Amino acid sequence: MAYTIGVPAERTPGENLVALVPETVARLTKTGASIIIEQGAGVSAHYPDSEFQEAGVRIGNREEALGADVVLKVQPPSDEEIQAVREKAVLIGFLSPLDKPSIIAKLAARKVTALSMELVPRISRAQKMDALSALSSIGGYRAVLYAASTLPKFFPLLTTAAGTVRPANVLVLGAGVAGLQAIATAKRLGARVSGYDIRDAVREEVQSLGASFVELELEIDDMQDSAGYAKAMMEEKAKRQTELLVPFIGKSDVVVTTALIPGRPAPILITAEAVKAMHDGSVIVDMAATNGGNCELTRPGETVVEHGVTIFGPLNLPAEMAVHASQLYAKTLLAVIEDFTEEGEFVVDFDDEVFAGACVTHDGRVVNERVKGLLETETIS
Ligand code: NAI
Repeated sequence: MAYTIGVPAERTPGENLVALVPETVARLTKTGASIIIEQGAGVSAHYPDSEFQEAGVRIGNREEALGADVVLKVQPPSDEEIQAVREKAVLIGFLSPLDKPSIIAKLAARKVTALSMELVPRISRAQKMDALSALSSIGGYRAVLYAASTLPKFFPLLTTAAGTVRPANVLVLGAGVAGLQAIATAKRLGARVSGYDIRDAVREEVQSLGASFVELELEIDDMQDSAGYAKAMMEEKAKRQTELLVPFIGKSDVVVTTALIPGRPAPILITAEAVKAMHDGSVIVDMAATNGGNCELTRPGETVVEHGVTIFGPLNLPAEMAVHASQLYAKTLLAVIEDFTEEGEFVVDFDDEVFAGACVTHDGRVVNERVKGLLETETIS
C-alpha cells in the first residue's frame, strides 16, 4: 500500500537542517512512499528544490507536507505544526520529550504516533538510527575548530626558524560520542590531548585515540550502568571531582566539555575558580550549554570572556555543518522507516525494543513512562 512522507521546512530560529536529503529519496520510495517536501525546506542546508525534484520528490506547500501520513522533522513541532498534522499520522524527529513534555502531551491529544529520535536506544541493532550520536560527533568536531580558531596559539608542535613552539594542551571532559570526536579532532590538529569521564569503561577508547586519560582519586565504583550511561553522581563526590579537576583545567589551553546524563541538568565541572586558574587567552567550549552548561560561567547561546578566558556556550553546532548534519540525520530517519514499514504500512510494534524505546505517543496516549511521570509532576505542582 502506498503512503506519503512529508517534510516541512524547519522554522526554529538557527536550525538549518532538513530531515530529508536527495540521497535518501530512492530508498524511502522503495518502502512504498511518495514524498512531498515544503518548497525551500532544504535551502538552508544547501539542498535546493531542484535536487529534490530530480530525485523524484514533489515540491509542495507547508500544509501538504504537514498533512502526510508520516511527517519527518528535525526540531520539536510547534503548536502550528501539531495542529496541521493529521490525526493518526506518524511524526518522527527530535522531540525533546524530557525537556518539553508538554509538546508530547499535545501530540498525544492530536492522536499522533510520535517517535522521538533522542530516545532510540543506544544498542547495536539501532546504531544506524542513532541520530543523537551522528550529530554529537559533528558537534565535537566543530567545538574543537571553534577553540582552535580562537586560541591565540598553535595547536601543533611547530619548529620554526625562530624556535620551537609547544603544542597546545586540550582537555576534554566527558568522553562519550561528542567527547571522543573532540579528542580525535584535537589530536588531528596536533594538540596534546587528555580526556576525562566518570565511566572507567571509556579509558581505553580515549587512549586508543592517542590521548591520555585523566585519573581522579574519587574512590568511587565504576559508574557505568546497564544502559551505557553514567549514573547520577552523589553530591559530595561531584564536589570532590570538581575540586580535583582544577589543576588539570588550569594547565589546559582549551577545555571542551560534553558531560551529561540524559534527562538531568548538566553537572558543573568547571567552577569560576577553575576558570581563574586558566591562562589568559585560553578557551572553553561548553557543549553542554543546552542543558545549562558544565562551566559555572557559561551563558547558553553566548560567548563571554571571563578572567581572560573565552567561554563558548553553543546551542546548535550541527546547524553550522548543515550539509553533512542533514545527510547523517536523514539516514537515521531512513533506517527507522525501513525498519518499521512493511508493504507500505507503518508498523506499530511495542514488542520491538527500538520502537518501544523511541515511541512517545500512540492512540491518544503518552506511552513513555518517564514523560508520563514528568507530566504528572507538572500537573501536581
Ligand atoms: P554521551 O552520553 O555519549 O556522553 C556524555 C558523557 O558524559 C558520558 O560518557 C558520561 O559518562 C559523561 N559524564 C556524565 N557526567 C559526568 C561527570 N560528572 N564527569 C565526567 N563525565 C561525565 O553524550 P554525547 O552524545 O556525547 O553528548 C554530549 C553533550 O553534548 C550533550 O550535552 C549534548 O546535548 C551535547 N551536544 C551539544 C551540541 C551543541 O551544539 N551544543 C551538539 C551535540 C551534542
